[in-house]
Amino acid sequence: MDLIIKNGTIITASESYKADVAVKNGKIVMISENVQTEGERVVDAAGKLVLPGAIDAHVHLELPVGGTISADSYESGTRAAACGGTTMIIDFATQEKGMGLVETVQDRLRHIEPQACIDYSFHVAISDLNPEVLEEFEASVRFGIPSFKLYMVYKDMMVDDGEIADALQRSKETGTLIAVHAENPYLIERRTRRLLAEGKTGAWYHYESRPEFVEVDAVRRVVYLAKIFGAPLYIVHLSSREGLDEVTKARDEGLEIYAETCPHYLNLTNEVYKREDGRNFVCSPSIKGEDSRKALWEGLRRGDISTVATDHCPFKSYEKDWGKEDFTKIPNGCMGIENMYPYMLSEASKGSITFNKAVEVCCTNVARIFGCAPQKGTIAVGSDADIVIYDPKKKFVVSSKNMHSDVDYTIWENCVMTGYPVMTFSRGKLVYEEGSFKGNPGWGKFVKRYRK
Ligand code: URP
Ligand code: ZN
Ligand code: ZN
Repeated sequence: MDLIIKNGTIITASESYKADVAVKNGKIVMISENVQTEGERVVDAAGKLVLPGAIDAHVHLELPVGGTISADSYESGTRAAACGGTTMIIDFATQEKGMGLVETVQDRLRHIEPQACIDYSFHVAISDLNPEVLEEFEASVRFGIPSFKLYMVYKDMMVDDGEIADALQRSKETGTLIAVHAENPYLIERRTRRLLAEGKTGAWYHYESRPEFVEVDAVRRVVYLAKIFGAPLYIVHLSSREGLDEVTKARDEGLEIYAETCPHYLNLTNEVYKREDGRNFVCSPSIKGEDSRKALWEGLRRGDISTVATDHCPFKSYEKDWGKEDFTKIPNGCMGIENMYPYMLSEASKGSITFNKAVEVCCTNVARIFGCAPQKGTIAVGSDADIVIYDPKKKFVVSSKNMHSDVDYTIWENCVMTGYPVMTFSRGKLVYEEGSFKGNPGWGKFVKRYRK
């Protein structure tokens, strides 16, 4: 065997049990009470948890936006991910006007291939929903990309309700999944204009320009369209109680609606925008109030929120400073790629959720919804050996100094984690150990995904 992990407690979405895990050629080949065979590397995981690596289904690495580019490259982003126990990312390949879907992915594959330290896939973020693109959904499926993102906001990217309807109808026909950024751009635009005219330019007004109802209105509309066309729907980065209520109602009716939330919506409230460094927390949707924060946790516990992902899209301090005098000039996006799994597991250590739930929403559901189960997202014979050894007793205080991304600050500064990953394996290869990155760029592979 290449690797044997002995004496640990295996956690899956549905079970917790003591067993040894044996790995050969990147796959889990045996799970048994006492693996007796020889191993090239033997890890004693007594007192530790043995978890599947997380899959972060929402990251923006090297994203060109507003005259700059998000601060983590494919190398630094996947390096940081590995150090936080994430073993696969699904990034966004943004379609330029006139470009095809597969062509868009191929272009990003050329960038990521030499850099990726862990496995990866893409959703295509569609900016030009013309008939040829709708026709190309099938070719995209054959290429291993069965999910597409639509933005209801952002000037150069947004689609209208008619286009969303066309995409949902086509996704129903092709077994693909439409993921939507749900906010109402017209409400945001009017509110922003009014706030600026009144001289209200600080980071707090980012929240005021896109409060709860801006999200709720869009969620309600897109859920209704999904219902009309009988199509599955995935709502990215859900941030509000009322938005969640719409999702819950739809799910109660039996609709295939999935909601994702992010660690920053679970951990923070809009109070952060009143801080001196409030601009560092500017992301869209905005971070909402305490009532929403609590509701998102309830939604996770009862299963109406299916996944947690980071929406990792950081910008450096000097770029965030562009909006010191005007919140609309702050590049939108926060970081979390190294923090998501440790944070969710730390919350499990503290009893907010079970470890099984943390695995369900960070790994297993993600793999199932996006079509890479059971290769990814669980600890099972035949699955990839994407494994995290987690010490539930280890204390860890987050600082930009102990993170592995290329950003010069973190919104997670001074956050105390109860429990922390001590080792990460990507297909059986050690990529992180006790604070240090052990992997290498170019190791990560493209994972073809199939939803049906
Ligand atoms: O503020 C954010 N979330 N920036 C990244 C793009 C998006 O909307 O997901
Ligand atoms: Zn978004
Ligand atoms: Zn995003």
